[in-house]
Amino acid sequence: MSMLLNAKDAPSAWAPSTINSTDDWQISLSAAQVCEIRSAAGTVAEKDLPWPDIDQRAYDLPSWVDLLDDLRSRLEGGLGFALLRSLPVEQESEHVARTMLWGIGQHLGYPDRQDAAGNLLHDVRDTGKHLSDDGIRVYQTKLPIHYHNDGSDAFMLLCYRQAQSGGRSQLISAVSVFNEILARRPDLAEILQHPFDFDTRGQGLPNAPPYQRIPVYTHHAGHLNVLYKRQYIDLAQRFTDVPPLTDKQIEALDLMDQVCGELAFEFTMNPGDIVVANNYDILHARSAFEDGESDEGRHMMRLWLTLPNGRPLPPAFEHTREFCHSFKRRKAKAGTAENTKGKPIQP
Ligand SMILES: [Fe+2]
Repeated sequence: MSMLLNAKDAPSAWAPSTINSTDDWQISLSAAQVCEIRSAAGTVAEKDLPWPDIDQRAYDLPSWVDLLDDLRSRLEGGLGFALLRSLPVEQESEHVARTMLWGIGQHLGYPDRQDAAGNLLHDVRDTGKHLSDDGIRVYQTKLPIHYHNDGSDAFMLLCYRQAQSGGRSQLISAVSVFNEILARRPDLAEILQHPFDFDTRGQGLPNAPPYQRIPVYTHHAGHLNVLYKRQYIDLAQRFTDVPPLTDKQIEALDLMDQVCGELAFEFTMNPGDIVVANNYDILHARSAFEDGESDEGRHMMRLWLTLPNGRPLPPAFEHTREFCHSFKRRKAKAGTAENTKGKPIQP
C-alpha cells in the first residue's frame, strides 16, 4: 500500500472561504444550451425507451460541447465540482426532467449502475422507509446524509423540487480534509489509509459478504482518493464477522467528521440546479428535510458517471460496489489512446 505522509497540494484542495469568495464554481446555462436540451429531451421522452437504449446520438447539443469539455476539466484537475444553474425543469414532467439529465450525462460521461438491480437513474426522495429496513439506503429517507461520496468517477444531481424545509447541500474537499488531519494528527492520517469495513446495504457484488474492506484514503498514481461513509462503517459493526472498531479508528473517524464539518461549503440547490462532483476528491452531505403535508416533496434525480478523462484507479477499488464499474471501463480502455477531449461513443 502506498502511504501518503506529506501534505498534498492540488486544485481540488480548496477551503470553503475560497469557494465563497468566487462565482467560478457556478455556471449559468445559455439560452441556446437550454433550447437544445429541452428540444432533444422532448423528442426522446416521447419515445419512452429504456435508458440503455438512449445514447448521446439521440441528443443534438452543439452549444454544449465547450461547456462539457470545461466541466470534465473542472471535475478532474480542477476544483472537482461545479454547479449548473437553472435548467428549466419546473414546467416539465418528471419524465422529461429525467430525460434532460440523462442526455447531459450521456454527453459528459458514461452512466453507470447505481444498485444491484442495475438502475441507471435514481430518484432521491423520501420513500417513508427506515434504515432499519433491509437494504434501504439513506438517500431513500429524509434523514441527514453525513459526509460521504457516491459511486463511479462523478455524480450528477438534478434538483427537481426542494423540500418544504431543510435539505441544504454541502460539499467538502476530501484532499483538504486529509491535509488538515495530517497536520494535526499524522498518526490518524495513517490509520485512515488502512482498511475499514463498510456495510454494502445489500448492493455488494454477487457472492460477496454484506460488507467491504477498504481504506478511507488511498494514494495511487499521484492522486489521493477517498471512500467515506461513516454511517455505513458504523452499520457494518452489526455483522458478527466484522471486527469491532479500535479506539484509534474511532478517534480517526471522529476527527474526519470534525474536520469535514469545519471545511464544509454549504449552499442551496433550487429546482433546475445540477451539482456535478468528482467522487475521489469531493465528499458531500445534506441536512435532514421535511416535506409539506400536501406537496409532492423534495425530489432529486441522480446519475453516476464514468468520465472519459478519469484518473488511474487504485487496484483496491476493483471490487468495491462504488467504483467497480469505472474500474472495469478503465481496464477495457487500457491500451487504447487516452481521449481527454470530447467523448467517444462506447459500444
Ligand atoms: Fe450522495
